[in-house]
Amino acid sequence: MATAAHRIARTPEEDGPADEAALAVAYEAAFDAAVAADERIEPRDWMPDAYRATLVRQIAQHAHSEIIGMQPEANWITRAPSLRRKAILMAKVQDEAGHGLYLYSAAETLGTSRDELLDKLHSGRQKYSSIFNYPTLTWADVGAIGWLVDGAAITNQVPLCRCSYGPYARAMVRICKEESFHQRQGYELLLTLSRGTPEQHEMAQDAVNRWWWPSLMMFGPPDDQSQHSAQSMTWKIKRHSNDELRQRFVDICVPQAETLGLTLPDPDLRWNEERGHHDFGEIDWTEFREVLKGNGPCNEQRITQRRRAHDEGAWVREAAAAYAEKHTSKDTVQNGATRANNGAKDGEAAA
Ligand SMILES: [Fe+2]
Ligand SMILES: [Fe+2]
Repeated sequence: MATAAHRIARTPEEDGPADEAALAVAYEAAFDAAVAADERIEPRDWMPDAYRATLVRQIAQHAHSEIIGMQPEANWITRAPSLRRKAILMAKVQDEAGHGLYLYSAAETLGTSRDELLDKLHSGRQKYSSIFNYPTLTWADVGAIGWLVDGAAITNQVPLCRCSYGPYARAMVRICKEESFHQRQGYELLLTLSRGTPEQHEMAQDAVNRWWWPSLMMFGPPDDQSQHSAQSMTWKIKRHSNDELRQRFVDICVPQAETLGLTLPDPDLRWNEERGHHDFGEIDWTEFREVLKGNGPCNEQRITQRRRAHDEGAWVREAAAAYAEKHTSKDTVQNGATRANNGAKDGEAAA
């Protein structure tokens, strides 16, 4: 439960002059107590610089992934096989843009502007999820992305709804609801293909073969090699380790693949009675590191397209800013006029 003491201690401007060092200790203690008590940290609360920096890095990378993730699927909008499929895909791609917006807004509450973050994305100083550096070669890839990529994202993101930072946790609640639609449309698409002609079945299987391993990489490096994990768990930004979430995802996917009538491309995949989980094969971490370094099949294409979209959208940002400016000044004039009128009624502005 939130206590008044935490709130007061965590808001420096409300405390007045005091011994700075003593205050710093008190703020830190209050922050730790709040995190331990599962309270949410809010934008105006005191927080350690490293906590803020970790959140900015994670939320920015997440936001960038949402908007870069629009590209591989947008590739198929014009070639969707029916109007129904096209409408679903357009709605999905649009949702991802929305997710980007919620997340850039969450990052702004930490004192980082969207412009600054986009600039870091465009100059390669911040990353997005490597999964989007793989190409979408056939229509079945739209289904495989929905089932596996959105599925992995949900597995990662549901625990983030309980993240210690309030604005991030709240953004995740809405995002997860939409992601589960994405996962289901992908699953239904693959099921339709799998039960279709032999060629359609083969296309679905080929897409799953190509997306399975990259999806497992989405959970990040193994726990013993993960730089940020331990601290993020202490701060309750992260609730489960990479390997734990990856195992959960594998266990969810195996029976789903059976229902789909498709196989997962891993000869070592089998149920382990003792562990109560599926064992699975070794992930090719060399591939993961190469894609991360920028040597994936589509790294260059994705960032070039993103920069171009940003440049070509400059007029939209200018128009939106001009519109907002016009309305702000109109509001100011109107409010001023209302005040003058009220004043006149009261006899104050009778000069
Ligand atoms: Fe999303
Ligand atoms: Fe999604």
